[in-house]
Amino acid sequence: MSDYQKRMDGYLEAVEAFLSRQFEWEPAPQKTVLQAMRYSLLAGGKRLRPVLTMEFCRAAGGDWQQALPFGCALEMIHTYSLIHDDLPCMDNDDYRRGKPTNHKVFGEAMAVLAGDGLLTAAFETVAAADAPAETVVRNLAILSGCAGVRGMVGGQVLDLEGEDKALDAGQIRLLQAMKTGALLRAACCMGVSTAGDRERMDAAAQYADALGLAFQIRDDMLDVIGDRAKLGKATGMDAHKSTFVRLYGMDACGRMVREETDKAVAALAPFAHRDFLTELANRLVDRDH
Ligand code: IPE
Ligand code: IPE
Ligand code: MG
Ligand code: MG
Ligand code: MG
Repeated sequence: MSDYQKRMDGYLEAVEAFLSRQFEWEPAPQKTVLQAMRYSLLAGGKRLRPVLTMEFCRAAGGDWQQALPFGCALEMIHTYSLIHDDLPCMDNDDYRRGKPTNHKVFGEAMAVLAGDGLLTAAFETVAAADAPAETVVRNLAILSGCAGVRGMVGGQVLDLEGEDKALDAGQIRLLQAMKTGALLRAACCMGVSTAGDRERMDAAAQYADALGLAFQIRDDMLDVIGDRAKLGKATGMDAHKSTFVRLYGMDACGRMVREETDKAVAALAPFAHRDFLTELANRLVDRDH
């Protein structure tokens, strides 16, 4: 097994173990919402964001185990964003992470509440992390800034308001940077922050921004060329969305994914340990899920 795969497996095992311990307490009269939260959280996403948090912590000279709660808090926020993104009032999707979407199983009201629960639990998780108080506060600032109206929530607004409109390249770039790039930025920056490194925060943010753009363009390509079984979500849902695929077509998008990935890799120059992050970015270029 390659060093990359060994490290990735170690990270994934730690994330699954951490997340599977969440929201299981008894007695719980509100158990329906806890079940709904666990249903989506443990449905097997790629865990890209916590992996980035742990690896950036290591790359910046820290102990990756210390970054685990911060990465998992972010995975809770990411999962909430997916539950709400799939609701009938947003993208109206029936299938996610290889299973029926949260609202299809638990109903819309419970899906809204499961998202609310995951969002709030993320901050509880950060506050409870075993790390110096100043690390916790810095990570709280990063996470809340990236998840809120200046980041992911704001990007979702631009995405919805951009439906059935001809946005220009700059507008699409901004909406993607906010809706997808911001949480990836939180992932990378919280890792560096947990290691106590302030100098390389900008480099981590640059990697995240380029990776985020490549990641969302690839997501939009997969909506056209992807396989539902591999993706774990439906395809052909984005015809009315403002994406680079709609603006420039598939070939140009393939080239943009490559270019942005090269930019991401170039941003890693200040880090001595950059092999894993380089391989991760390169593997995402032609990902099928
Ligand atoms: C899906 O994110 C939503 C986007 C930002 C494109 P992922 O592709 O990381 O989804 P999971 O976590 O693996 O399910
Ligand atoms: C996801 O964008 C962005 C989020 C913040 C959830 P999409 O709407 O393209 O994600 P998928 O394709 O449903 O996973
Ligand atoms: Mg969406
Ligand atoms: Mg969607
Ligand atoms: Mg999509």
